[in-house]
Amino acid sequence: VSIAALIPAAGSGSRLGQGPKAYVEVGGLSLLARSVAALRAHVDEVIVALPDGLALPPGLSARCICGGVTRQESVSRLLDATAAEIVLIHDAARPFVPPEVVQAVLAAATQHGAATAALPVADTLVAQHPDGERGALWGQLTSREGLWAVQTPQGFDRALLLEAHRQAAQAGIQATDDAGLVARLGLSVALVPGDARLFKVTTPGDLALARALAPVWDSLVLESR
Ligand code: CTP
Ligand code: MG
Repeated sequence: VSIAALIPAAGSGSRLGQGPKAYVEVGGLSLLARSVAALRAHVDEVIVALPDGLALPPGLSARCICGGVTRQESVSRLLDATAAEIVLIHDAARPFVPPEVVQAVLAAATQHGAATAALPVADTLVAQHPDGERGALWGQLTSREGLWAVQTPQGFDRALLLEAHRQAAQAGIQATDDAGLVARLGLSVALVPGDARLFKVTTPGDLALARALAPVWDSLVLESR
């Protein structure tokens, strides 16, 4: 079967505040270059959705298309750009991708049609009091038992994900991930154990963490060669 890695990288990075996030460098490489390099060996083609009017970061070569206004729109355009049977969707903003997780997501997607990396929630969950001054409400939310925090990569039968996007667009639904669009059709999405290092670089604190991890990560990758 043919497999395409589809990388949404067209966001503006507003929470990070350093311009389009995919171009931000961590340990001498852009977030996008790290994500592309991590997936390339597992797939037949890589396609990247970039911000309107921008080119790939210097030194990186990949097929690219112009992204949309939302992540969902960027993924929808990426889906239209490939004919692969299986698609692996991965946020450019998650630069550290363990190869075992990619393999496990691909295997589960091939078997079940839809799969995502995810981690069991470790922290206690609370809801902020509607009157923000008054702290939070304990015990109002379900316990963390059985709750997972969803990551990428996510893998799908391409025809299935196309249909999920079509139905979401028709219903006017905007979601922050693709597994959610498949789940709302009543289909199950396999949960594959992710990895703490697959965190998404979203805030300045995440960037500091990524910059601290990069040299350790890069030396592990070199060792494994
Ligand atoms: N993304 C995209 N197209 C968009 C919005 C987001 O391809 N219109 C991509 C981002 O580039 C990122 C991934 O989706 O790789 C996850 O999005 P997020 O972390 O929210 O990135 P940004 O939207 O860039 O950040 P922010 O929400 O803080 O502006
Ligand atoms: Mg965003």
